[in-house]
Amino acid sequence: PFCFAKNEIIDSKTAQIHPMDIGLIRGYGIFDFFRTSNYIPMFLSDYLDRFIRSAEKTHLKLKFTKSELKDIILELVQKNDLRDGGIRMLLTGGVSENHFSPAEGELFIFCEELLFPGKEKYENGVKLLSAEHVRMIADIKTTNYAYPVWLSPSWKDAGAEDVIYHFNGVVSESSRSNIFMVKNGEISTPNNHILHGITRKRVLELAPECKIRSISFEELLDADELFITSTTKKILPITTIDDQKIGDGKVGEITKKLIADFVEMEK
Ligand code: PDD
Repeated sequence: PFCFAKNEIIDSKTAQIHPMDIGLIRGYGIFDFFRTSNYIPMFLSDYLDRFIRSAEKTHLKLKFTKSELKDIILELVQKNDLRDGGIRMLLTGGVSENHFSPAEGELFIFCEELLFPGKEKYENGVKLLSAEHVRMIADIKTTNYAYPVWLSPSWKDAGAEDVIYHFNGVVSESSRSNIFMVKNGEISTPNNHILHGITRKRVLELAPECKIRSISFEELLDADELFITSTTKKILPITTIDDQKIGDGKVGEITKKLIADFVEMEK
């Protein structure tokens, strides 16, 4: 496969990064991740806008314009024959003299195989394990996922698909997805300490009546339906949190309808 590294499209195997890049030694960098469907990078403009915004907010200089990035991506999709796959854009913090300050970052764009959760997970729903945590500078898609990577063996041991964060009693998001709840027919989603997901944005378009508001962890446990949204999971129903069943423990009707509407939206 081919990737974009150091200003050109090269064989992915030959891509290199300096070991003193603060992306590695300090975990400082940004990325974004999207997918192709039948060779079309889905919702590309939204992902590029978020990536450019992340770069600005982290004081990292992106040497390419939105339209240049788009051209590179389209060329990579073609060269890699990427019908249905993932694309990762990564901008590292760069190599700085004091090994700390943001410097001139390196841009990489890779194509990856992308596997969605199995069909049974969409039919039966999955479990989340709760954790008291809040992401800092949550609206920037930074490469720092040390906490959930560290936590992941525990949620796997508990038979959970992922984690749900709450802090001071308020819910934010899952490790790599946003969350929505349904109670008495009303849909809501948290407003603070979240990454503004592109899938979340699509769901808000499908359900413009959704309330964007502060949601307590207590309220979440008492929901009729829950689902998480992300590029790699689309809309995935949640039927258990910790050891508590959500609603009647089955995938709810509003969740099912949104899953179906999202399929239509992608056509
Ligand atoms: N994660 N919140 C966080 C912290 C995320 O990392 C992501 C995406 C989302 C959902 O955003 P979107 O709908 O734009 O994918 C929310 C990607 C998929 C990942 O890290 O693999």
